[in-house]
Amino acid sequence: MGLQGFIFSFLSLALLVSGQYDGSRYAWYTSAATDFNSALPVGNGRLGGLMYCTPTERVSLNENSIWSGPFLNRLNPNAKSVLTEVRSMLESGNITGAGQVALPNMAGNPNSPQHYTPLGQLNLDFGHSSQGSLNRWLDTYQGNSGCSYIYNGVNYTREIIANYPTGVLAMRLQASQAGQLNIKISLSRLQNVISNTASTSGGANSIVMKGNSGGSNPYFAAEAQVIASGGSVSASGSTLSVSGATTVDIFFDAEASYRYSTEAAAETELTRKLSSATSQGYQALRTAAIADNTALVGRVSLNLGSSSGSAANQPTDKRLSNYKSNPGNDVQLVTLMYNMGRHLLVASSRDTGPLSLPANLQGIWNEDFNPAWGSKYTININLEMNYWHAETTNLAETTKPFWDLLAVAKTRGELAASSMYGCSGFVLHHNIDCWGDPAPVDYGTPYTIWPLGGVWLSTHLMEHYRFTGNKTFLQETAWPILQSAADFCFCYTFLWNGYYTTGPSLSPENSFIVPSNESKAGNAEGIDISPTMDNSLLYQLFSDVIEACQILGLTSSECSNAKNYLSKIKPPQTGSYGQILEWRQEYGETEPGMRHLSPLFGLYPGSQMTPTVSSSLASAAGILLDHRIKYGSGDTGWSRAWVIACYARLFNGNSAWNSVQTYLQTFPLTNLFNSNNGPPMQIDGNFGFTAGVTELFLQSHANLVHILPALPSSVPTGSVTGLVARGGFKVDIHWSNGVLGSATITSNLGSTLALRVANGSSFQVNGQTYSGAIGTKAGGVYNVILQ
Ligand SMILES: *[C@@H]1O[C@H](CO)[C@@H](O)[C@H](O)[C@H]1NC(C)=O
Ligand SMILES: *[C@@H]1O[C@H](CO)[C@@H](O)[C@H](O)[C@H]1NC(C)=O
Ligand SMILES: *[C@@H]1O[C@H](CO)[C@@H](O)[C@H](O)[C@H]1NC(C)=O
Ligand SMILES: *[C@@H]1O[C@H](CO)[C@@H](O)[C@H](O)[C@H]1NC(C)=O
Ligand SMILES: *[C@@H]1O[C@H](CO)[C@@H](O)[C@H](O)[C@H]1NC(C)=O
Repeated sequence: MGLQGFIFSFLSLALLVSGQYDGSRYAWYTSAATDFNSALPVGNGRLGGLMYCTPTERVSLNENSIWSGPFLNRLNPNAKSVLTEVRSMLESGNITGAGQVALPNMAGNPNSPQHYTPLGQLNLDFGHSSQGSLNRWLDTYQGNSGCSYIYNGVNYTREIIANYPTGVLAMRLQASQAGQLNIKISLSRLQNVISNTASTSGGANSIVMKGNSGGSNPYFAAEAQVIASGGSVSASGSTLSVSGATTVDIFFDAEASYRYSTEAAAETELTRKLSSATSQGYQALRTAAIADNTALVGRVSLNLGSSSGSAANQPTDKRLSNYKSNPGNDVQLVTLMYNMGRHLLVASSRDTGPLSLPANLQGIWNEDFNPAWGSKYTININLEMNYWHAETTNLAETTKPFWDLLAVAKTRGELAASSMYGCSGFVLHHNIDCWGDPAPVDYGTPYTIWPLGGVWLSTHLMEHYRFTGNKTFLQETAWPILQSAADFCFCYTFLWNGYYTTGPSLSPENSFIVPSNESKAGNAEGIDISPTMDNSLLYQLFSDVIEACQILGLTSSECSNAKNYLSKIKPPQTGSYGQILEWRQEYGETEPGMRHLSPLFGLYPGSQMTPTVSSSLASAAGILLDHRIKYGSGDTGWSRAWVIACYARLFNGNSAWNSVQTYLQTFPLTNLFNSNNGPPMQIDGNFGFTAGVTELFLQSHANLVHILPALPSSVPTGSVTGLVARGGFKVDIHWSNGVLGSATITSNLGSTLALRVANGSSFQVNGQTYSGAIGTKAGGVYNVILQ
């Protein structure tokens, strides 16, 4: 080969290597992970694994029910006795005094519930001192991750899969030359290990590690089984040593006492899953894992066009840094991040049987025994945001764990409602743990005493019905919870100036300046009555109850009460410059760029303030949103994701797109985990990003399927297929030159289809000019083109 030929084939090889990863689908890197935020996450909804691909591998392991301890009854016994006093102090303007009485008497004791903890790690010591030509990838479509590198002329590969059907993690380690794999394998955990033993007895190579939370509960048992082909395996202490192997497969499971009444029962399940896994073998498990994952993830495909030149062919860390200065070059990074949001949900939230657990503040991945915010379920935005894209992007099954935890929390919350407020029904405050702990959390007036956490969660039940039309779900799962949420609100709210009002409450997590005619003038306080968000949540809950009653033909007292109460919920108010007011009066702001958009609940995820419902409220919502942005809101990943959705709901695609770009320039960590502009990771923003981007192309609140409601001018041509609209419609959309090419709508349920295209364009459905809502047939297909 001449020099020219050599250079040519070198170049084409380089292109091939960089071109082998579809930049919309793969996160990939040319170096090993340096920390948690660059390791790559897989999961089967219960078990999570993060692979580093370092010479001495440490796969970080999680099981979603391993928390720091048992249920704690933290209810403050004084709460009920101060309720009336605190309310009247707030009514008469003694705001500071109300906080001083409320906090010590109503906050939970201790202040925090339990927190999420790591299971441990799988250590693989290969004895390698360097890694040449390293490649490391996560496939957001298949849900698996792997890497390869050269050491001493041998190509070593690692792959990890998370298998949902069988419920295990599995790894395959290989050497390109026979007999070159020598690995010391162990499980470890930094705290509370009861036993950790490796064994080769009976021909099964296994490491079993048992642990707990320091007390007996939660207890867990974890096991790795190792099958080495070629070579031998020996056990010493807690380590298995493989020598001279070519391929090594590792099968892993952990089971914990959260779901089993005895240790023996948990261990029986562990044995059952692992023997099923090892008898299937790695290849069969891998095939099943990928088939299962792609059956969910593959339902939606987003195409926003190609990045310029080779922008999308760079390793992901390089793309993230290039994007900071050149966002216009790499539109496929938007698509990759969108796909990541769906991968992470499928990996961290599946129906794993009774007592499934939803994605927490870090999804399922955590290696810290004292994680940020406890890696719990924060329910004044974060857990809700985790599921914003579940229905719209066709992953409705992933909500099952949400309902399971909500049912657990309802039972706890009924005791809290009666103890703290003397009410029936259930109450939750701004956080819960895996036990559904309903007591107020932390100790501060802007966040602790917020009694509408359960109401917000409950609104998701009706949304699930709207997307799926599942009446069994509405009757059996949703109704008991909606009923209990409503019962609490009927009892808890009090009439103030003619409206049913909450309080002591707050507007998550904001504070205001106490005005001159109230006490203590000039103080920053968070406690009040009748914040706008509470009114919007009550409006939504009572509307949902009325709708459920109608659909199910119910006549229970909640149905008529909801109507009575709904007529006395204070509508959103506007302030001096036309903005939606956050509070019952226009207080001075402590933080004009506040990251929580609580008063805009009615814009997104609610619909009360959207343009087709109320153009005046929509315009007031837009004024508040612009004001917030002007002063720096959108300064955490999840806040910026909410901003994207809000601008989309205002049909302002270009402002939404600016926030999409700002989001990607600011918040993704190396492995694409969302952050608050640097670690720690917080997964809500990953999910909110996908939800917000979806709202650009399809909206369906307010009984209207709206195609291309907020198309940004930066993406004039593209397509998205497989989205779901309320009413049970699957929607595929193609657009070019900034206008609809065609949309194909499949009716899953035979619901009535009211349509809008872009900004009120005229269009045809199946060749007929659209003039009003269409009665559809289940299975019917409706083609939409511009007139
Ligand atoms: C203080 O003044 C505001 C604005 O006039 C008013 O809305 C509020 O009710 C007053 N507070 C009390 C306790 O009277
Ligand atoms: C407000 O309440 C506090 C606490 O009870 C009390 O000490 C204070 O005197 C009250 N202030 C006013 C202006 O009523
Ligand atoms: C090592 O093997 C993997 C898997 O076959 C392959 O993708 C990778 O390109 C190989 N690495 C090198 C440097 O050849
Ligand atoms: C409807 O909901 C019920 C109860 O939640 C569930 O068992 C069933 O699988 C759901 N049906 C479908 C088609 O998803
Ligand atoms: C949408 O249509 C309305 C009424 O025709 C018009 O006032 C408005 O400017 C349009 N908005 C956009 C974003 O094109």
